[in-house]
Amino acid sequence: MSQNTEPREQWASRLGFILAAMGSAVGLGNIWRFSYVTGENGGAAFLIIYLLCILLIGIPIIMAEFTIGRKAQSDTVGAFTKLAPGTPWVLAGILGVASAFIILSFYGVVAGWTMRYFLGYLTGQLWSAPEGGYADFFVGFISSPVQPILWQFIFMALTIGIVFVGVKNGIEKTNKILMPLLAIILIILAGYSLTLGGAAEGLAFLFTPDWSAFAEPGVYLAALGQAFFSLSLGMGALITYGSYLSSKEKLPGAAGSVAVLDTLFAIIAGIMIFPAVFAFGIDPASGAGLAFITLPDIFAQMGLGGFFGLLFFFLLAAAALSSAVSLLEVAVAYFIRKFDWTRKKASIIVGFIIFLVGVPSSLGIGPLSNITIVGGRDILDSMDFIASNIFLPLGGLIIALFVGWGWKKTEVLEASDFGSSGLGQVWLFILRFVAPIAILIIFISSIRQW
Ligand code: PFF
Repeated sequence: MSQNTEPREQWASRLGFILAAMGSAVGLGNIWRFSYVTGENGGAAFLIIYLLCILLIGIPIIMAEFTIGRKAQSDTVGAFTKLAPGTPWVLAGILGVASAFIILSFYGVVAGWTMRYFLGYLTGQLWSAPEGGYADFFVGFISSPVQPILWQFIFMALTIGIVFVGVKNGIEKTNKILMPLLAIILIILAGYSLTLGGAAEGLAFLFTPDWSAFAEPGVYLAALGQAFFSLSLGMGALITYGSYLSSKEKLPGAAGSVAVLDTLFAIIAGIMIFPAVFAFGIDPASGAGLAFITLPDIFAQMGLGGFFGLLFFFLLAAAALSSAVSLLEVAVAYFIRKFDWTRKKASIIVGFIIFLVGVPSSLGIGPLSNITIVGGRDILDSMDFIASNIFLPLGGLIIALFVGWGWKKTEVLEASDFGSSGLGQVWLFILRFVAPIAILIIFISSIRQW
């Protein structure tokens, strides 16, 4: 077995780190998952709770993860064993590695779909609606036994390739170019979607709350899970990325910019999708296919739509790739340290296992669609539910408690760059009380939804 003699890497620059964290946050979660979860949970009421989760739970926990990572200079499990040896806090790290396996397993499946759509625009096949419309095409494709798995494989191979090359060259470089491009095209598409005739209804759905939805405990759990998923939070992805940061950098600004940017991406995606949903008479609660069915309809209406479709699915696949890389990196960083594997060996073995774990999620839509796991959900949705709505908030809860209670206050404040500022006190108060209590209340009140 090859012994690992490589030194731990570091980001080349502060900007590279922030962009990598942003690249991890911005992905399928902002477009595919945000749109259908918002649609299923009633629109504006969900959005308000989601924003509150980001502000009161998300941003403080991003800071907690960055602080732990940079201080410990180790992967998500190693960080806890280093900072608090022999204590049960390490459970957060173990949950994190498990979540990385589960999330990347189905993430690769959905990312594979985006690559298939990219090919459809490259060849012109999807420029106009296929027989039976885009909805039929989508369902036909994702429920077929072999094709989606091939695309999942291709996507996972690319993810492995980047993690294989390493933090600085692989992860840092890809993000710098593609993120700004994705932002620009999203804004153009949102602008166009607003001209389609469903703007009034779409915007009302997204921004005018139906108050009765606030009485639904399931909406809170969905919003909490979406906040964690979208911010890449609760599983140590940001601990891992923070661990490649040298101690010269200031953390709070980085945490704030990641959260703001991620939220902007999601809201703009909402402004792109919901007007079109109403313009084309699609049910906003129609589920996981929402983006894949609505967007092609937008492109088919647009001048140069084929070109925009091509560009959009390319950028979406790229955004998914930078998120997938961070998921794989969580597990790979752990295996490199724990088993003394080289980066190359760890990325190939772990990546391939995650690919295999994802295969049933893909098959569960077609050949294995009679299998349901959690509350009538198919395999992919069950994996998503368990990891995003349970494991991530639970991991976040432990992380908040660790930084709030398990670590010496003066040390935490110093390690976080807050120092003796008032903001640091507010941050600690949230980690000690507000975030844990909110997560617990949401868990307990929604337990019947599980
Ligand atoms: N935040 C990513 C997205 O919105 O697509 C998904 C994700 C990446 C979740 C990394 C968790 C994670 F650790």
